[in-house]
Amino acid sequence: MKKIGVLTSGGDSPGMNAAIRAVVRKAIFHGIEVYGVYAGFTGLISGDIKKLEIGSVGDIIHRGGTMLHTARCEEFKTEAGQKKAIEQLNKIGIEGLVVIGGDGSYRGAQKLTERGYPTIGVPGTIDNDIPGTDFTIGFDTALNTIIDAIDKIRDTATSHERTYVVEVMGRDAGDLALWAGLADGAESIIIPEEQYDMDQIVRRLERGHKRGKKHSIIIVAEGVGSGIDFANKIQEATQMETRVTVLGHIQRGGSPTAFDRVLASRLGAKAVELLLEGQAGKTVGIESNKLVYHDINEILKVRHILDKEMYNLSQELSI
Ligand code: F6P
Repeated sequence: MKKIGVLTSGGDSPGMNAAIRAVVRKAIFHGIEVYGVYAGFTGLISGDIKKLEIGSVGDIIHRGGTMLHTARCEEFKTEAGQKKAIEQLNKIGIEGLVVIGGDGSYRGAQKLTERGYPTIGVPGTIDNDIPGTDFTIGFDTALNTIIDAIDKIRDTATSHERTYVVEVMGRDAGDLALWAGLADGAESIIIPEEQYDMDQIVRRLERGHKRGKKHSIIIVAEGVGSGIDFANKIQEATQMETRVTVLGHIQRGGSPTAFDRVLASRLGAKAVELLLEGQAGKTVGIESNKLVYHDINEILKVRHILDKEMYNLSQELSI
């Protein structure tokens, strides 16, 4: 292989830049040319592709977002879109592609592989919902952003003796909510993977109130529904003054944590290694701190599983 490409697709996540940097530097280290595809699969179809040099990825390791920009592309789901994309890659002689993103991006990578074009998927999403890896790039940073926000909310919640409902992202996965709840000692964590019992939540709030607690924090994962609706139900049931904060897209921005930078560097470099070994249709990941890879078809057949033990622990600690 003499030329490879790299793109980011779907929702951005902090650490994507560090992954791009790793792909570019690892490839150049091995004497291979690297091309950046702009705006994900949209740029692949339109041919928005530029050669990247060592310096092109300087000064980005600490920056959030993605220097290659990203998009969600409907056209790429069609046969015509996929064929156009491969034509663009062939025109420049790019022989393999690293796709950084979530499960939608993996589906795009899978389609290219099915058409005989070698691709490797790198898990980049704040949701931590990709099978085949313990952590996705961006999850740790988003989690720390949430913790920072909840610590601030806690100050004002205590002053006013209020209950706060905080809605966090995660799409259909409860990982961000669960980890944030455990890290912040939330009273209740409401996630799509587990049924909740409103009576139990209310009893817990009342118990805390009687014990002299000055505030309560309830974290609701967006996959369960609206945090605003949830807060209304809590206020109605407890008659306690309740406020709601929807954290929204601030969870996707910011400088990546050291953990995400290191993870992204390791996974980006591993993806290049796999292409050079002649692998195709694989995804990279980290399991028990070891770099691993899996068949993309297998990964797309299974669902990410939330850590039930951690959930049980969060229940036990918030009595
Ligand atoms: O997948 C990342 C994510 O931030 C999810 O947590 C959220 O549901 C979704 O993307 C929001 O997407 P958009 O930025 O397109 O509104």
